[in-house]
Amino acid sequence: MPGTRTSDVKSFTTLWLTLLSAGLVIAGAARAVASGGPQTQLALTPPMGWNDWYQYECKVDEKAVKANAAALVSSGMKAAGYRYVNIDDCWQGQRDANGFIHSNSRFPDMKGLGDYIHGLGLQFGIYSSPGPKTCAGYEGSYTHEQQDAETYARWGVDFLKYDWCSASQVYSPDQMQAAYRKMYEAILKTGRPMVYSLCQYGLEAVWRWGASVGGNVWRTTDDIGGDGYARVSMFGFQQNGLEKFAGPGHWNDPDILQIGLGQLNFDEEKTQMTLWCILAAPLLAGNDLTHMGQQTLSLLTSAEVIAVDQDPKGVQGQRVWQEGPFEVWVKPLAGGSKAVALFNRSLSALTITARFGDIGVHDRAEVRDLWARKDLGVFNDGFTAKVPPHGAAMVRVKEIR
Ligand code: GLA
Repeated sequence: MPGTRTSDVKSFTTLWLTLLSAGLVIAGAARAVASGGPQTQLALTPPMGWNDWYQYECKVDEKAVKANAAALVSSGMKAAGYRYVNIDDCWQGQRDANGFIHSNSRFPDMKGLGDYIHGLGLQFGIYSSPGPKTCAGYEGSYTHEQQDAETYARWGVDFLKYDWCSASQVYSPDQMQAAYRKMYEAILKTGRPMVYSLCQYGLEAVWRWGASVGGNVWRTTDDIGGDGYARVSMFGFQQNGLEKFAGPGHWNDPDILQIGLGQLNFDEEKTQMTLWCILAAPLLAGNDLTHMGQQTLSLLTSAEVIAVDQDPKGVQGQRVWQEGPFEVWVKPLAGGSKAVALFNRSLSALTITARFGDIGVHDRAEVRDLWARKDLGVFNDGFTAKVPPHGAAMVRVKEIR
């Protein structure tokens, strides 16, 4: 190049290399946000774990969380697949002069608590709000999103439940998606993967956009507790129709299991477990794991029932037949068989038939009782079971071709 000095060529080249690499970095960052970056391998099956809210509400403290984490292991629940130990509301203290959040006196050492949970081979979950205050009136993350995400990452957090609450005072409904995306991007920036659990009670049809703002799970309903079978069944059965929005990495969440909390009788608890597994819903136990009866434990750890929830195909089941309070639901499984649940929402025991035509089975099929873990034999046309009041049966149906 006549008239061009070597140093000019060099700086020109350097400039282009700089611009090019900056471009690559920006493109890479954009891709990371679009694809979820470090988040993409999370919740490929519905998250399983424990959440303190229904047992402790604001009386929760470090001692209770540690005791429940230890019980998750000693009870056999960890072996059954439960992993997350999630602290809900009420752990927050004040922000310091630099705006960083600190835990309150019930949680003297969050990093130490995270280390303890990880030491048990479990994962650590925490809770906040996009608003200035949480539902229980503690400090929320509003205007401190990045700082809070960094603090959680420093503590070793693996799961964040982000609860709308007072956000309604600072955001309009059409700003909700941006508010959730903001914390998602803050999590991404920390480089630490965290399952991101949206909690805004199903407002604004969250199932349509939850995944696009980084949600791995999103609550589809209001709080499930406090009204026994009526609320559990209403919320559970109304998930029908939302199946197309669920899949590996992003799940509908009809809220915490009520098993062992004294709200439901045995058959009602069995109904919740059966339905949540057919729905591929997150399985978060809500009871005191340190004082758990054998019956509660057996409902929470039934291996073949849980395998339906955790099936790698990741399809949420749906209702295929209903006659008043009697329902048949089906969930297709990897390998071609189907999980079939028969529900009796009435107050008398009744026989219910799952007709093979209704569940997409066209010939003879082998049927296995998943709660009893027992092969029931080969059936032609359908399968009939006597189902107790407010109860459920669950079988796996495998067509013989
Ligand atoms: C809301 C949520 C609950 C729980 C409480 C805590 O009600 O829906 O799941 O987190 O807040 O205050």
